[in-house]
Amino acid sequence: MQDSDYRLEGQVGIVTGAANGIGQALAIGLAQAGADIVICDLPAQHQQAEQTAQAVTAVGCKALVLELDVRSAASIETAVSSACNSFGRLDFLVNNAGVNIRRPFLEYSEAEWDAISSVNLKGVFFMSQAAARQMVRQQHGKIVSIASQLAAVAMQNRSIYAVTKAGVAHMMKALAVELGPYGITANAVGPTFVATQLSESMFKDPAFIAENLPRIPAGRFGSPGDVLGAVRFLLSPAADLVNGHLLLVDGGYTCW
Ligand SMILES: NC(=O)c1ccc[n+]([C@@H]2O[C@H](COP(=O)([O-])OP(=O)(O)OC[C@H]3O[C@@H](n4cnc5c(N)ncnc54)[C@H](O)[C@@H]3O)[C@@H](O)[C@H]2O)c1
Repeated sequence: MQDSDYRLEGQVGIVTGAANGIGQALAIGLAQAGADIVICDLPAQHQQAEQTAQAVTAVGCKALVLELDVRSAASIETAVSSACNSFGRLDFLVNNAGVNIRRPFLEYSEAEWDAISSVNLKGVFFMSQAAARQMVRQQHGKIVSIASQLAAVAMQNRSIYAVTKAGVAHMMKALAVELGPYGITANAVGPTFVATQLSESMFKDPAFIAENLPRIPAGRFGSPGDVLGAVRFLLSPAADLVNGHLLLVDGGYTCW
C-alpha cells in the first residue's frame, strides 16, 4: 500500500447535492485528492453550485456544473449522459442529495412519504443505475451513498428518513452483489448529526444538544470533513475490496 492508493488522481466523479453542506465539502475535498468533479444539484441551487465549482478549480481540478433533480429518471439520464460525454469516463458516483421532514409517525402524510423517499431512495437507485451502466462499459467504478447513523438505529420523529437510509445501506449491498463482477464497488457512509442547512433547526434547539451530545461517546457532533474522510477512503484504490459496507461515521452513537 502506497500513499497514492489513497488518492484519486486522474479520476472523474459525480457528486449529487454538491451545492451545499456535506456535498459541497465532498466535492472540494475529493478534488483536493486529485479528482475532476461533476457538481450536480437542483436548478435553484445554481449559484451555490458555481461556488463549489470555483473551489474545485482553485485546487487545480476540472469542474462541471449540471442541473439535476434526482426525483426524475429523465433528469438523471440527461445529467449522467452529459457528464460521460464531457469527460469520456466516470470513475465514481457519490449519492449525497438527501432531504428530511421530521414529524411523529402518526402525523406523516402520503405526500411527505413521497417527498422524502423520492429523493433519498428512488433518487439513489436510478442515479446508481445510470452511473453503473457507464461503469459496466468501463469494467470499473465506485459508488458511495450517504446514508445516516439512522440506517442502523431508530430515532423519534424520523421514521420515514430512517427507513430510506436503511434502504440506501441495503441497496448498496444489493448493488455490491450485482455489480461486483464488473469491477464496481458500492458502499454506504452513515454520518451522525452534522450542522448543515438540513439539520439547522436541530442544532438551534438546546434540548436536542442536551439529549444527543452525551449519546456520542466521542464527545462531539460530526463535521463535513469527517464524512469526507470516509468517502475519500471508500473511493480510493485502498478500498478496492471493500464492498457492500455501511461505514458509520458516528463517534460511536450506535454502540449502545
Ligand atoms: N446533516 C446531517 O446531520 C446529516 C446526517 C446524516 C446524513 N446526512 C445526509 O447527508 C446528505 C447531505 O445532507 P446535508 O446535511 O449536507 O443537507 P443539505 O440540505 O445541506 O444539502 C443537501 C443538498 O441536496 C440537494 N438536493 C435536495 N433535493 C435534491 C434533488 N431532488 N435533486 C438534486 N439535489 C437535491 C439540495 O439542493 C442540497 O444542495 C443527505 O443525504 C443527508 O441525508 C446528513
